[in-house]
Amino acid sequence: MRQPSLLFVCLIVQTIFLQNSHTLSIFPGDAYWADTNGIPIQAHGGGFLKLDNTYYWFGEDKTEGGHLFHHVNCYKSTDLVTWEYVSHALSAVEGAGSEIGSDAVVERPKVIYNERNRQFVMWFHLDSSNYGLAKLGIAISNTVQGPYQYQGSVSPFDEDSRDMTVWVDEDDAEKSAYLVYATRVNLDTVIAKLSSDYLSIQERLLKLVDIHREAYAVFKKDGLFYIVMSRATGWDSNTNEYMYSRSMSGPWSERFQVAPSSSNTFDSQTNYVVPLPDGKFMFAGDRWNRNDLSDSRYVWLPIQFGSENTISISWSAQFSLDIATGSTSDRSSIAYDSRSPEAELVGGATVMPCSGCDNGDSVGYIGMGGKLIFRGVRGSQNAIHSVLIRYANGDSTWRFATLKVNNGAWERNITFPKSGGGQVTKQIVVQVPLNQGAVNEIEISNENGYGPDIDVLKVEEW
Ligand SMILES: *[C@@H]1O[C@H](CO)[C@@H](O)[C@H](O)[C@H]1NC(C)=O
Repeated sequence: MRQPSLLFVCLIVQTIFLQNSHTLSIFPGDAYWADTNGIPIQAHGGGFLKLDNTYYWFGEDKTEGGHLFHHVNCYKSTDLVTWEYVSHALSAVEGAGSEIGSDAVVERPKVIYNERNRQFVMWFHLDSSNYGLAKLGIAISNTVQGPYQYQGSVSPFDEDSRDMTVWVDEDDAEKSAYLVYATRVNLDTVIAKLSSDYLSIQERLLKLVDIHREAYAVFKKDGLFYIVMSRATGWDSNTNEYMYSRSMSGPWSERFQVAPSSSNTFDSQTNYVVPLPDGKFMFAGDRWNRNDLSDSRYVWLPIQFGSENTISISWSAQFSLDIATGSTSDRSSIAYDSRSPEAELVGGATVMPCSGCDNGDSVGYIGMGGKLIFRGVRGSQNAIHSVLIRYANGDSTWRFATLKVNNGAWERNITFPKSGGGQVTKQIVVQVPLNQGAVNEIEISNENGYGPDIDVLKVEEW
């Protein structure tokens, strides 16, 4: 065999270096997160499954705004920031006798993989429109993306069941799976073990009576099981808590807060704890908007481990996640105001008063020849960057705009949900390839109609 050339070794080292150094920003809480089609991710109450190096995110598609069932969406990512839409993993089945029609409620879908029979198993909270049914639903698929086939529903131990999660103990040679759910109208929490095919409940391990909790997320670190959960306050956020134990059967510790009480868990409700490399974990929560569930957003924050098994999360408005090591660090952005000298208004693009915007105005009439072009936008490397766009869309529905980088080297049609008025801003984060240095041009336009009014572009820097 020939010796690998020095150039070849250098290329490998460079590739590894670039992969490690190329970490993208996450903006928890406020901004919409666009998928690779430029559409805000709809995967609420979600769960995650990692297969090889790919993370799959399953969650409720609330595009229609209400609480009734339409789809469980599946997205995939290798960095937990860039998400590609994969499928409607489970969709409403209409017709007499269907338990999962568009008059049903399907919440907190969680998918686990059964290695024994290579089957993907989805469990969810199944309910009727007024939450009177209170059961658990099960669906299966031979592929991760589905479509999952509905198997039926259960009332565990003949009791009601609402928020739930399922979780596999990957350290266990048996790959035991567990179900945690709320019963007796959320007063009690049950921890149960699933059968080896993950399709039924094998044994109730424990019932925690009168704790009045919901929204469970399980993880395990260094042999210690943790369950994060919320209080039961409907769509409103509250102080989420955790408890820990050496065994899923208990005894469990007292419950402790994961975040300062005044923050209401940074205005979120836990839905999952995502395992990262090197024993690190990320809290994933939903920031629900009860008036329009499609407007609900995601609060992801790294979990910090303290002494005596304590965990906590603290606020970061923007942090980068290194998927190779699971490390996170605070990161900042350079802001480009639409009224700054770097921004050129072309055609009919017009300055608009906007009380909710930086400096009191935005640029509107972008479209039908009107364009806004940011010049000299700085890239930190020749690499993808998370770019946040603050905008106003006073319509009652979406607006669209085309984001074009460096004369069409890359372009994407971005969906901008309504912002609640022309004076009110919202934000959306998009992953955009840029060249290194203050050399990039980002053009916002729309050939078929008008885009949103643009306030500010924020480009991450490192
Ligand atoms: C962007 O996508 C929307 C929704 O699919 C579509 O209506 C619109 O025509 C697209 N705009 C452009 C410029 O491609």
